[in-house]
Amino acid sequence: MSSLSALLQVRDLQVDIGERTVLQSVSLDVSQGELVVLMGANGSGKSTLGMALAGHPSYQVKAGQALLGGQDLLQQAAHERARAGLFVSFQAPPDVPGVKNNLFIRTALNAVRQARGEAPQDAFDFLSSAKEAAKELGLPATMLSRPVNEGFSGGERKRNELLQLSLMRPRLAMLDEIDSGMDVDGVRVVVKLVQRLRAEGTAFIIISHYLQMIESLEPDRVLRLDAGRIAETGDLELARSIARTGFKQHAARPAAAVGA
Ligand SMILES: Nc1ncnc2c1ncn2[C@@H]1O[C@H](COP(=O)(O)OP(=O)(O)OP(=O)(O)O)[C@@H](O)[C@H]1O
Ligand SMILES: [Mg+2]
Repeated sequence: MSSLSALLQVRDLQVDIGERTVLQSVSLDVSQGELVVLMGANGSGKSTLGMALAGHPSYQVKAGQALLGGQDLLQQAAHERARAGLFVSFQAPPDVPGVKNNLFIRTALNAVRQARGEAPQDAFDFLSSAKEAAKELGLPATMLSRPVNEGFSGGERKRNELLQLSLMRPRLAMLDEIDSGMDVDGVRVVVKLVQRLRAEGTAFIIISHYLQMIESLEPDRVLRLDAGRIAETGDLELARSIARTGFKQHAARPAAAVGA
């Protein structure tokens, strides 16, 4: 699935955490509007890939390339990567005490709007679009005036990640187990929002262990990460096969389609 025109191009990425090499050599392409599901056993390095692409300082990229829309992400600071159109949600969204949610999201939104050549949103316009988006996501509007994630339940934190996604409309969104901790209505909300943004051209890498949601998302490709590389590439059948047999047994089978 390599293509020169892919929106995201990751080539032979090696990522270390401390002394340990977690990703040996990851290569993958994602085109505009494509949806790729990334699966892999616990600890296989899925979140590591997201954090490394986002520019988290603990995740050291030792080799390889990552381009978004032709721009070299690895040369950019985390905030520049976001301005370039990358959005990576947290598997466990942290609290940001003392920072009001609406100010946090408006500041981030206006930074990406500026990078896209769009006018900034004033507090009034922002609040009205944020309230509307929050309502769609089943998040009480009062969450907007509280400190980021402070005292939020697990599912509310995930919905707050979706609120940022919905307002920022990135070029590529990587959602890390966005379904975990979500109730059934929350999972429906994820699918609906992803479908809407995808139709508008946003590309997605969705990390999930949840087959039912993966099926609803109708992915273009399903990838399995193992031993620090993309061990297998397939379609929904790959996700179903993993769900049937488990990662251990699946890894032991003779490889079907290997590559990125
Ligand atoms: N800060 C850290 N210090 C040491 N090891 C770390 C650190 N962060 C991650 N790791 C290790 O790196 C490996 C990959 O972790 P990662 O979080 O990327 O896995 P994952 O595929 O997202 O797993 P899960 O499905 O459980 O979310 C794990 O073995 C983890 O313990
Ligand atoms: Mg993870």
